[in-house]
Amino acid sequence: MTQDIVTKIAVLGGTGKEGSGLALRWAAAGYDVTLGSRELEKAQRAAAELNVTLGQDSVRGLTNRDAAAQADIVVMTVPYAAHAATLESVKDVVQGKVFVDVTVPLDAQNVRRVKMPAAGSASVEAQQLLGEGVKVVAAFQNISAEHLKSLDREIECDVLVCGNDKDAKQQVIELAEAARVQAWDAGPIENALVVEGMTSVLINLNIKHKVKAAGIRITGIPRP
Ligand SMILES: NC(=O)c1ccc[n+]([C@@H]2O[C@H](COP(=O)([O-])OP(=O)(O)OC[C@H]3O[C@@H](n4cnc5c(N)ncnc54)[C@H](OP(=O)(O)O)[C@@H]3O)[C@@H](O)[C@H]2O)c1
Repeated sequence: MTQDIVTKIAVLGGTGKEGSGLALRWAAAGYDVTLGSRELEKAQRAAAELNVTLGQDSVRGLTNRDAAAQADIVVMTVPYAAHAATLESVKDVVQGKVFVDVTVPLDAQNVRRVKMPAAGSASVEAQQLLGEGVKVVAAFQNISAEHLKSLDREIECDVLVCGNDKDAKQQVIELAEAARVQAWDAGPIENALVVEGMTSVLINLNIKHKVKAAGIRITGIPRP
């Protein structure tokens, strides 16, 4: 983000746990953030709540489609059950943009067990559905909303970023840094299946150790 041009971020499903946490951190870092929802009023209410936490009137609420249309970078944080429908609803207005998919295709019958869609992963499915004109980047699937919701909280977990466009991945790494999370380029979009699957592993650990927000950290590389 330069000082002159403020990047506009839309968070689709930003009324939920993960999206509102990311939105909070990006708004606090000075980005122009809009929450998207299926319902305009719900988005506006969620934005108003974030503005109270932020102590400034900066976050807006719009429908998912309007939020996506006005943004430079679109981030999607919806349950897998809503993945395809939400993608379809914004497909035409996200062409040419960076599209960050945070979705984890959890198995509703057993969230501790990895179950990938036929395409290979949610992010590959997003790339196929949106087409090659959209720079799909997979990220943030391993960061619990529990970490994001408080601005004071230091996050010790890393973010792995997968996608086929190097520049788009760099923009998402910068977004992670703005949220005060260390991010790493983890290769092409096909690698996202490992990252998405890791969330089921982390849910297992949460349940076994009675914690809320297990995460991962990359070692062996000097941290910037
Ligand atoms: N929560 C976490 O800690 C966490 C961590 C990492 C990754 N994730 C992933 O991030 C995504 C969002 O997680 P979340 O916990 O934020 O989910 P959530 O709070 O349950 O839902 C997020 C938003 O998605 C929309 N939504 C819910 N059900 C829908 C449906 N059937 N059709 C269309 N829209 C629907 C709702 O927005 P509107 O009603 O306003 O449209 C909702 O506020 C999931 O894929 C999850 O696996 C979550």
